[in-house]
Amino acid sequence: MKGVALVTGAASGIGEDCAKSFLEEGCVGVIFADIDLARAEAAAKSASAALGSITSGRTLAALKVDVSDSTSVDSMVSKAVGIFGRIDYCVHSAGVGAQESSSVLDMSSTEFENSQAINVRGSFNVIKAVSRQMITQTPLTETTRRGEKISRGSIVALASAHSFMATRNLSQYTTSKHAVLGLVRSAALDLATHGIRVNAVCPGWVDTPMVSKATRGIPEIRTYIEKLVPFGRMAETEEVSEVVLFLSSSRASFVTGAAWVVDGGLTQEQGPITQFPAADLRPTKRFITTHNAERKAVFLADDSGDHHKILVNGNAAANIIYSTQGAQVDLNDEKDVAFAKANEPPIHVRSGSVARLIDFAPGMESPIHRAMSIDYGVVIEGEFLLTLDSGESRRMLPGDCSVNRGGNHKWKNLDEKKSGRMLFILLDVAPLYVGGQLMEEDLGEMAGDYAPHPE
Ligand SMILES: NC(=O)c1ccc[n+]([C@@H]2O[C@H](COP(=O)([O-])OP(=O)(O)OC[C@H]3O[C@@H](n4cnc5c(N)ncnc54)[C@H](O)[C@@H]3O)[C@@H](O)[C@H]2O)c1
Repeated sequence: MKGVALVTGAASGIGEDCAKSFLEEGCVGVIFADIDLARAEAAAKSASAALGSITSGRTLAALKVDVSDSTSVDSMVSKAVGIFGRIDYCVHSAGVGAQESSSVLDMSSTEFENSQAINVRGSFNVIKAVSRQMITQTPLTETTRRGEKISRGSIVALASAHSFMATRNLSQYTTSKHAVLGLVRSAALDLATHGIRVNAVCPGWVDTPMVSKATRGIPEIRTYIEKLVPFGRMAETEEVSEVVLFLSSSRASFVTGAAWVVDGGLTQEQGPITQFPAADLRPTKRFITTHNAERKAVFLADDSGDHHKILVNGNAAANIIYSTQGAQVDLNDEKDVAFAKANEPPIHVRSGSVARLIDFAPGMESPIHRAMSIDYGVVIEGEFLLTLDSGESRRMLPGDCSVNRGGNHKWKNLDEKKSGRMLFILLDVAPLYVGGQLMEEDLGEMAGDYAPHPE
């Protein structure tokens, strides 16, 4: 690759690695652009130092840009052209993750708008300004094993796996990344006649400062993410920049409007159960009561619960019926209803309770796990085997109940053809000592399936 590369968001993470890779690949000029100029300069310096003598004859520049501001973006493009005369490859990696994680009910407009301003308007500003520059340039000729290839320019924007899927409590980010992909597809069409290619790279979780920031102080979230990804880990930045380089190069000369997913299988994961209820079991209703002005009991809710969750990589799904906190639950002013709605509970609530229905896929056996609770298990549909870590087991039919007092255990749906359903009610317990040793919660392979306990 012998042209000039402009990378936004180059002070950190994916952008920094892309800028460094263009340098390694032989680009004559690489621009590290970012809102944080000092870190962009440091990134350029460190790339140059890491590559040592390989960089001779190649020039680096760091520029300050706020991608949400079109004047700032236009100025970045004219400065880049002032230094290098042209832009052949643009990688737009500047973006923000979620600063706030909350339901759409509580998401602040400021947070929502900030995401759209940086991620969406930023992408529009960059694609517009860079492509307007690219169409004025003489094409770049690159020698490939298929002979001479002419490139009018390539733009790669960092979209996300969230361009295809949604995660609860991330409406601002999910909306912005769906929009980035829409923009890339539209721009690819608009710029096709000019020979400019526009593509999106859609990573799942990548180990960058954006993710460290989002997961700081909540170590369980990393385990949760790793459990979600079929490869069992996050991507390294290099695993994303390799794809960016390919899409930028003449090897991808006929690729435009593509959304290249780099997610370790995250968006492919579809177990037999994709939602509650399992496809072959009936939906369940939840009826909650309250009192009217005459102090008579009336129904407050007639719904299917607030929190549904896929468990064990799609081999089970939970419908959390209710959760409470406090030994004496405070029913005044519907405080308990608000608590149950606002909190997706951990496996059990400290000083509280959880009631959840779980649908098990045919023949599915749960990983072995221990919840430190009194755990009432009632078979609703099907036939189950409850096995304890001692090796003892019991077969249970509809209506049979287990009272599991902190035992390490697993469940198996004995029907190989039909999903099964159980109701679990978990109550908190005092610390349990067995043989003088404290027994601790151990969710094993299901650690990532449940919300973390609040500190
Ligand atoms: N890390 C992930 O797991 C992941 C997953 C999917 C998509 N992405 C996307 O990849 C891109 C890069 O993410 P990352 O993880 O490398 O993040 P990062 O936080 O490490 O880097 C983002 C860079 O963008 C810069 N930036 C932020 N706002 C800016 C603005 N207004 N103008 C100019 N620069 C600005 C920041 O200063 C930072 O240097 C983002 O668009 C992100 O949404 C990341």
